[in-house]
Amino acid sequence: MPQTVAVLGTGKIGEALLSGMIRAGWRPADLLVTTRRTERAEKLRTRYGVKAVTNAEAAKSADILILAVKPQDMSTLLSELAPHLTADRLVISAAAGITTGFIEGSLAAGTPVVRVMPNTPVLVDEGMSVISAGSHATGEHLDHAESIFGGVGKTLRVPESQQDAATALSGSGPAYFYFLVEAMTDAGILLGLPRAQAHDLIVQAAIGAAVMLRDSGEHPVKLREAVTSPAGTTISAIRELENHGVRAALIAALEAARDRSRELATGNG
Ligand SMILES: NC(=O)c1ccc[n+]([C@@H]2O[C@H](COP(=O)([O-])OP(=O)(O)OC[C@H]3O[C@@H](n4cnc5c(N)ncnc54)[C@H](OP(=O)(O)O)[C@@H]3O)[C@@H](O)[C@H]2O)c1
Repeated sequence: MPQTVAVLGTGKIGEALLSGMIRAGWRPADLLVTTRRTERAEKLRTRYGVKAVTNAEAAKSADILILAVKPQDMSTLLSELAPHLTADRLVISAAAGITTGFIEGSLAAGTPVVRVMPNTPVLVDEGMSVISAGSHATGEHLDHAESIFGGVGKTLRVPESQQDAATALSGSGPAYFYFLVEAMTDAGILLGLPRAQAHDLIVQAAIGAAVMLRDSGEHPVKLREAVTSPAGTTISAIRELENHGVRAALIAALEAARDRSRELATGNG
């Protein structure tokens, strides 16, 4: 018997998951969405053929509930769900920084909760979703979460204690690459290239490097060495990167992101 999945708070991440599930073969008839605005619900209904319901209706009828509201809207959503939700349903949260313990404490005792930290490339099916089990979630519950988030990219299981580190690496990760592209485009302009050309050159270098990293199976050092000829251009640039402490800056930056994720998880906004 097919399971009914409800996406609660179908914004950017929720819609990416919904479209990923449909492309992966889920039947729109088995998918429910909830939204705050009715015009958003109407759009999703016409775009995907799914049924728009209230949060209470979703809690009563869905087997799996994906919570995709912003962290600051989570308490309100949980209070709407709690009176209708029994502990035989699976709750999957995609909200950054919200612990499974917080969600478990708001719902019926024994409710299985899975926490997932996706990143924005789920919008183009190249996401990384880091998945952790709450205290009542089993391997089968994690399998369900993987089958949903696996439709929009890769998944990785980690203990919940590593979610803050994973957030620093992959949740915020795309932003570091955008920052690099922005800085390297500025460098291209300094070197006399028009902005549009500099942008295209850097973006294609980034895509090429990303595909090489993913598909060659080679260590990044090996790939870099292949571009670094003796007394050549690349080693001149690498020396400047080391002189300016870029490696140390990246380590410190990710440590700061991990610490901020911890602070947010303890409600220290
Ligand atoms: N975007 C990212 O990079 C990213 C990455 C990892 C994790 N996440 C997590 O994913 C979650 C969603 O992020 P997002 O970027 O998709 O946000 P979003 O686009 O703002 O989507 C959230 C949606 O929830 C709706 N909503 C709020 N309260 C509701 C309620 N009580 N009932 C039904 N719907 C409700 C909002 O409706 P309105 O539009 O009417 O306000 C909005 O459409 C967040 O918790 C975030 O931490 C996001």
